[in-house]
Amino acid sequence: MGSTPPLSTAHTRVAVLLLLFLLAVVPWPGAAAQGGYRVMSVAGGGGQLSARLELAGDGEKAELGPDVQRLSLTASLETDSRLHVRITDAEHPRWEVPQDIIPRKAPRDIVLDASTGASPRSRVLSAATSDLTFTLHASPFRFTVSRRSTGDVLFDTSPSVFFKDRYLELTTALPAARASLYGLGEHTKRTFRLQRNDTFTLWNADIAAGNVDLNLYGSHPFYLDVRSASPAGAGNGAGAAHGVLLLNSNGMDIEYGGSYLTYRVIGGVLDFYFFAGPAPLNVVDQYTQLIGRPAPMPYWSFGFHQCRYGYKNVADLEGVVAGYAKARIPLEVMWTDIDYMDAFKDFTLDPLNFPAGPMRQFVDRLHRNGQKYVVILDPGINVNETYGTFIRGMQQDVFLKWNGTNYLGKVWPGNVYFPDFLNPRAAAFWAREISLFRRTLPVDGLWIDMNEISNFVDPPPLDALDDPPYRINNSGVRRPINNKTVPASAVHFGGVREYDAHNLYGLLEARATNAALRADTGRRPFVLSRSTFVGSGRYTAHWTGDNAATWDDLHYSINTMLSFGLFGIPMVGADICGFSGDTTEELCSRWIQLGAFYPFARDHSAIGTVRRELYLWETVARSARKALGLRYRLLPYLYTLMHEAHATGAPIARPLFFSYPKDVQTYGVDRQFLLGRGVLVSPVLEPGATAVDAYFPAGRWFSLFDYSLAVASATGKRVTLPAPADTVNVHVAGGNILPLQMPALTTSRARQTVFHLLVALAEDGSADGELFLDDGESPEMAGPRGQWSLVRFTCKAGRGGATVRSHVLHDSYGPSRKLVIGKVVFLGLRSPAPPRELAVYVNGVRTANSTGRAQGYRMSGALGAAHVAGLSLPVGKEFELKVVMS
Ligand SMILES: *[C@@H]1O[C@H](CO)[C@@H](O)[C@H](O)[C@H]1NC(C)=O
Ligand SMILES: *[C@@H]1O[C@H](CO)[C@@H](O)[C@H](O)[C@H]1NC(C)=O
Ligand SMILES: *[C@@H]1O[C@H](CO)[C@@H](O)[C@H](O)[C@H]1NC(C)=O
Ligand SMILES: *[C@@H]1O[C@H](CO)[C@@H](O)[C@H](O)[C@H]1NC(C)=O
Ligand SMILES: *[C@@H]1O[C@H](CO)[C@@H](O)[C@H](O)[C@H]1NC(C)=O
Ligand SMILES: *[C@@H]1O[C@H](CO)[C@@H](O)[C@H](O)[C@H]1NC(C)=O
Repeated sequence: MGSTPPLSTAHTRVAVLLLLFLLAVVPWPGAAAQGGYRVMSVAGGGGQLSARLELAGDGEKAELGPDVQRLSLTASLETDSRLHVRITDAEHPRWEVPQDIIPRKAPRDIVLDASTGASPRSRVLSAATSDLTFTLHASPFRFTVSRRSTGDVLFDTSPSVFFKDRYLELTTALPAARASLYGLGEHTKRTFRLQRNDTFTLWNADIAAGNVDLNLYGSHPFYLDVRSASPAGAGNGAGAAHGVLLLNSNGMDIEYGGSYLTYRVIGGVLDFYFFAGPAPLNVVDQYTQLIGRPAPMPYWSFGFHQCRYGYKNVADLEGVVAGYAKARIPLEVMWTDIDYMDAFKDFTLDPLNFPAGPMRQFVDRLHRNGQKYVVILDPGINVNETYGTFIRGMQQDVFLKWNGTNYLGKVWPGNVYFPDFLNPRAAAFWAREISLFRRTLPVDGLWIDMNEISNFVDPPPLDALDDPPYRINNSGVRRPINNKTVPASAVHFGGVREYDAHNLYGLLEARATNAALRADTGRRPFVLSRSTFVGSGRYTAHWTGDNAATWDDLHYSINTMLSFGLFGIPMVGADICGFSGDTTEELCSRWIQLGAFYPFARDHSAIGTVRRELYLWETVARSARKALGLRYRLLPYLYTLMHEAHATGAPIARPLFFSYPKDVQTYGVDRQFLLGRGVLVSPVLEPGATAVDAYFPAGRWFSLFDYSLAVASATGKRVTLPAPADTVNVHVAGGNILPLQMPALTTSRARQTVFHLLVALAEDGSADGELFLDDGESPEMAGPRGQWSLVRFTCKAGRGGATVRSHVLHDSYGPSRKLVIGKVVFLGLRSPAPPRELAVYVNGVRTANSTGRAQGYRMSGALGAAHVAGLSLPVGKEFELKVVMS
């Protein structure tokens, strides 16, 4: 985790006047409450409101256990954009996600002036600077959260609340016609926007991502809701978004009925956080301020990665690296799945096929060529008296317990014990093993798999914990929660039950792995984890797991990628060309055209399937060179987006509505996506297609391949674009300035090339953008003592020309004085005809290269493009570049 990013708004000071007053009771539609509580007393003060609730219903859903008699509720406005509502047993402590796993102490600087009262029928908690208002209704108990500025009710609970030891239920009403929900994962979903009448089960499981709608590897009980209008009237207030987190690590089903959302949870407490937005980017900023900002990823991790389960030996790996070089397709990182291990034991090398000497030479060669190497680790440690890792683990007593002894599971190596990452000794053990292994093989990053935890053992007889009274829809067939994992009755450090902590395992392993790499290398860690939870983005990247080589999975990869952007894990991608099953030449070609624009771009495939390295088919190789060529040109932009993600939580790959929240047509778009604010990717997702139907929000859009004007429209527009076999459509929106470099076969070579600025002018002649620079591998990104530079570019253009200025916001990265911008391209200049002359002024001085011919000017429709080359503008020095047309 980095230090506080200087550019974020971090913890906003909230100095507010709290008002606690009476409101008329608005009855819940549909009267007769089942279950339910009533408010017995309320107290206010210190920026919060607390209430005592008492059971009002009589034995509803008795089969799910007895009701908790008395509950306590606290509602607090923790910042000017965050409301926390927590409901728990008033008399007995219950499991909650520990503070040291997700630190979430409320900022202490809220100054509130509160008043308390007896027991009125409703109470309001609001503050002058907060757009969120909390209203508590007394009898029956329910609560609402509304947006003060528009009056929109965001969350509106039913009186039918259940709070039993192992069954919590709460329902909120939603305005079906105005709400669009996203998030609630991890699942492979057919659409990015949540579909009505779908139930989302959250319970980390080793279920292949090729399965639609089942609970998969991670749990993220967070959704973002963007409203198409405020209740006041059509269009009014359109595009206001808010977020809702139920911070709870127990298994749950969340049923989305369009007009309601019901949480059914098998433990923990009802711990809700509401994030006010109102811009979608504000929501992820506020959310990641609570759960932790995304970890910075090293620059090299934005290069292209190649993996396969089933590489046979070192020669096989070398052949693949050579294949990429020969085909002149960028390859940054070579990976190896479990094949490299000796009998699948972590931290060992297969003495026959991947022996230490040749492996070391292979990795050294990669490093000399500016390339990297990453290997897989599974959590299970083989029970084997001759295996050093096992012996040390036993000595340090780091393994998960069950029935008084180490829990015996079975995974690839056979019998295993699992390190219990809740135990601080386990993190130390893990770090030491990683460090020891890196002395043999200096790997650059680690890939942690099977950490749901996946287990091949048939579950032991169900005990009460394994078979709670409410069965979540595990694997779509209400399978017991211990299926293919460790028993819910297993016991972690401190007596914590697996029943409660199950969903945290991947998060804790990622935390330990990140810390281990950081300690051992002194550099920025790269960790890729399959299992994730709320807050995992602080430590790890994610790939979407075992997808299948199908056209559906190609499309669904966009939905999962965009969802993880909301979850605070922006470094995400799917296995390019598909993991399981045989891919085809056409599918693989279209997949690299899309995958080249995943934040994390890795080709990976399963053992026994056809190989799919990008050089194997000529059409795939052509697609790869073209799409990855553009990706590598965009590296400075992608890396600047990484900085933005780390500073503010902004996803790298974003849905269209993040930039165009008022355009309700964008809410359902999931066959296209944006990189950052203004780069639109419109891939082909169907076999046989040579054109793609793309939606363009209002504005101008220029092709990033040939800089032509593709669309200019005052309203959103559907356009059919040609998409021949080797082509993916990528456009930049007017209003953006993109920092670019030249393509190369590795990121380190690309980083040595000259910068270009691509200035895509909006209709009003403006554009802006940023460039972030550092060494790409220091542990901190933009840390207080780090060396980094941030430059902002702005442009104003009119009929006579354009002026672009740079503003150096921070400049402690030495090389920024040596790195130069050699070329600036202006797109969207207004000139009725090519100008006779194009005069160029740098900092007020006319440059030698000042004739129209030398600089290049061409028309694209009614708009002009000027190419100003031959420049040498140091990135770290402010400049003004003016182009005058006559
Ligand atoms: C959802 O289910 C309800 C009730 O079964 C039904 O009336 C409605 O048409 C369904 N909506 C969708 C979008 O399937
Ligand atoms: C322990 O590891 C050694 C070395 O890989 C192997 O030969 C042996 O079969 C393993 N024993 C067990 C019980 O797995
Ligand atoms: C749990 O441990 C006890 C005592 O060692 C043993 O008798 C019992 O069989 C174990 N239970 C299971 C299900 O293995
Ligand atoms: C459980 O999941 C399956 C698979 O998604 C689905 O078909 C089924 O309707 C779900 N059952 C319930 C009760 O939600
Ligand atoms: C557990 O999962 C396996 C598939 O991995 C399935 O065959 C089996 O029936 C499941 N067991 C139960 C009790 O549902
Ligand atoms: C002028 O532009 C040309 C073509 O881009 C370039 O080769 C040359 O170096 C430039 N000359 C100066 C003095 O900048």
